[in-house]
Amino acid sequence: MKVVAFIGSPRTEGTTDALVRQVLNGAEDKGADTAIFHIGLLNINGCHACMKCRKTGICVQDDDMKPLFDEIRNSDCIVLGTPIYFYYMTAQMKAFTDRLFSLIGDNYESRIAEKKTVFVVTQGADDPGLFKSQIDSMISAWGMVGLNVMETIHACAPSDIEQLEEDEELMEKAFTAGQNLID
Ligand SMILES: Cc1cc2nc3c(=O)[nH]c(=O)nc-3n(C[C@H](O)[C@H](O)[C@H](O)COP(=O)(O)O)c2cc1C
Repeated sequence: MKVVAFIGSPRTEGTTDALVRQVLNGAEDKGADTAIFHIGLLNINGCHACMKCRKTGICVQDDDMKPLFDEIRNSDCIVLGTPIYFYYMTAQMKAFTDRLFSLIGDNYESRIAEKKTVFVVTQGADDPGLFKSQIDSMISAWGMVGLNVMETIHACAPSDIEQLEEDEELMEKAFTAGQNLID
């Protein structure tokens, strides 16, 4: 089984990264092969709305998103991680998400096999309900593509990675979510 993670935080050693890695630890514990892509380190344009993919299913842009389509297609499961920036996903994650347009058809149906997905979201605010509608909308958008979020791992106001890792309940939840992807 192959699990591929896409992280939208520009901080490659931040709290989102740490939680995504914990999900992958759980998947590896069950024998999965894993890979991580930090979207912020890649050159990924937004969608140009050229509509060529409507017929072909293939995005014409020649940037760092190109190999990621095969990574998605060839994976069994996906992990998506983003901090909340201004009440939504980061701009990096939004560009990645918009580019998934080629993976949906004219009736907004997925063109790929459904992937069990874990969503990791971090935020500065300590109220876990504050971005509920935004989180639900991200999950719906990815679901349209066939990235079916089974579980959301949600960290609120982690001051640093040390404090995050002291939250045994959350770390255990992330590990188990990774195991559950494979079971
Ligand atoms: C540009 C920017 C915008 C942010 N907007 C929000 C926000 O709207 N709500 C919130 O609770 N936290 C916000 N934050 C805080 C991040 O979501 C939080 O620090 C997160 O844990 C960072 O994840 P990281 O450790 O992976 O970088 C923002 C941070 C930045 C840099």
